[in-house]
Amino acid sequence: MLTKMKSILAHHLSAKLNLPSDEILKSLESPKDSAHGDLAFPCFSLSKQLRKAPPQIAKELTDTLKIGLPRGFEKVHPLGGYLNFFFDTKVWSETVLGEIQKSKQKIGDQPHIGNQQIAVFDYSSPNVAKPMSIGHLRSTVIGQSLVNIFKCMGFKTIGINYLGDWGVQFGKLAWAHLNKKDLLLKAHKLSAEITGGGFDVELWNRLLNDAETKPSDSFDYLYALYVVYHAVAEKDPDLENAGRDYFRKLEGKAPEIVAVWQKFVEVSLVEYDRIYKLLGTHHDMVRGESFYEGQLAAVVTELKDKGLLKESEGAQIVDLSAWDMPPCLVTKSDGATLYATRDIAAAKDRHFNMGASRLIYVVGAEQTLVFKQLFKVLELMGFDWAKDCVHVPFGLYRFKEGKMSTRRGNVVFLEDVLDRAVDMVREIIKEKNPDLPNPQKVAEAVGTGAVIFNDLMNDRQKNIDFDWDRLLDFNGDTGPYVQYTHVRCCSVLNKWNKPLPTGAQVDLLTEKLELEVLRVLGRFPEILTLAYDQLRPNWIAHYLLDLAKAFNGFYYEHRILEGDIKLQEARILLVDSVRIVLKKSLDLLGLQAPLAM
Ligand code: ARG
Repeated sequence: MLTKMKSILAHHLSAKLNLPSDEILKSLESPKDSAHGDLAFPCFSLSKQLRKAPPQIAKELTDTLKIGLPRGFEKVHPLGGYLNFFFDTKVWSETVLGEIQKSKQKIGDQPHIGNQQIAVFDYSSPNVAKPMSIGHLRSTVIGQSLVNIFKCMGFKTIGINYLGDWGVQFGKLAWAHLNKKDLLLKAHKLSAEITGGGFDVELWNRLLNDAETKPSDSFDYLYALYVVYHAVAEKDPDLENAGRDYFRKLEGKAPEIVAVWQKFVEVSLVEYDRIYKLLGTHHDMVRGESFYEGQLAAVVTELKDKGLLKESEGAQIVDLSAWDMPPCLVTKSDGATLYATRDIAAAKDRHFNMGASRLIYVVGAEQTLVFKQLFKVLELMGFDWAKDCVHVPFGLYRFKEGKMSTRRGNVVFLEDVLDRAVDMVREIIKEKNPDLPNPQKVAEAVGTGAVIFNDLMNDRQKNIDFDWDRLLDFNGDTGPYVQYTHVRCCSVLNKWNKPLPTGAQVDLLTEKLELEVLRVLGRFPEILTLAYDQLRPNWIAHYLLDLAKAFNGFYYEHRILEGDIKLQEARILLVDSVRIVLKKSLDLLGLQAPLAM
């Protein structure tokens, strides 16, 4: 739509001005104020060559260009140093609405880009036995949205939940579980020293004892073990050693410890799955760090054979000083292998076994260096596909603690945040729309939608301030606002209650607010491409706000289902097209689009 118009204009200008068409294409802009035209060509770069001021050039070129504009363009005007082109609104409306109605949910898709290549996404990837924190929300929703976007671009996607299910911490936890009495005794003895800092001995004691009836079956129990163990270990170094000892047993496959570890993984997955269900997250496989345990020795040998390993204080490293990076740790002085080593094995798995031609890691910005090191090591190993690996970093959440505390201990639990959002929406529904059928389902769609949208509308590199009031404002820049606009479209179409008009005269759409909706609609494919190219779902979130605003402006001003029937038909087609693009964009972000709310 807009992309097509741009390329038509670029071709035309290229022939007329004798300039390379791709350069023109790159320089074409959309004027901020639509009254100034639909596409603008800046004349600044011609100034030197022609030895004239840009406004003068714009004036002169207008005279040359105004006769014989390509089809779809109505007129051209100079403004400052710009040539401003106006679309022929009839052609534009027909193109935009025609394409949306023809493609429906596939609008903007470009399957030739991915051409069935495989893209592997590593996202969410929480650490077993630890609650999914609000930080994991970012990886989860950004990752899922990128998966959705890549699908539209013709990629076969594989979404992986790379669980943090291996490491010394599981030895510690296993020890804590199997020696709970011991642990609690120590906790009591040290209670004076370890209280404070959010640690409530009584609470944890109760949790651990309550769980006695169903040992390790609940996630709260696991989390209690974790907190108590760490609080005590800080004062009592024996615990640290005991934990390490148990991890060695786990590595050695001691059945009793393996069974406990397995239980931890199971219990955690049940917990995570509940959250994924709420968020609409879908991984194609859970393949955690432990999966690569058996392949690590081979990775170490390979690194050694390729001459990359160096000994340093008893540990094995890959020296990266030539690239201004600290060394990549491959094994520790006690022989234990590390996070990086498992990631090397996992990357090879994704490339060689899964056939990935893109490896995408959606992980917080605090791990930027880790991934730089990983990709460099892969390159040094001679894998030219290291260039296909991308780290998609994101910033942190900043919480304003207020009337609504969502902290347990020191952690903001993602589930608490989601529950609270759903509860708040349920209250709003009760008050504003008490007869709504299925209020719980709608509250879930809208409450989690608000949290997801609030995340994705931000530039992912930036930190996010979490503000409950803003998040749920049905009239603000929020998920609920967009979802509500979709509901509005659906209800107009419901009232119309007839099949969509065929052969509607869309050139009847001449009102300013109608043209504004058409202008925004026509940009969608370009926005989707931008989100894909830059791996930034926030393009789509902002687009949704623009589209919702344009539509609501039109909706408040004009009575859609009154007056001339021909005009009604054209408007119904416009409303349905807005509905399609809203729904598609909501889908891409992973938000539901309820039919009523
Ligand atoms: N489990 C890690 C964490 O929560 C994230 C894993 C990211 N993926 C990876 N391949 N290293 O910090």
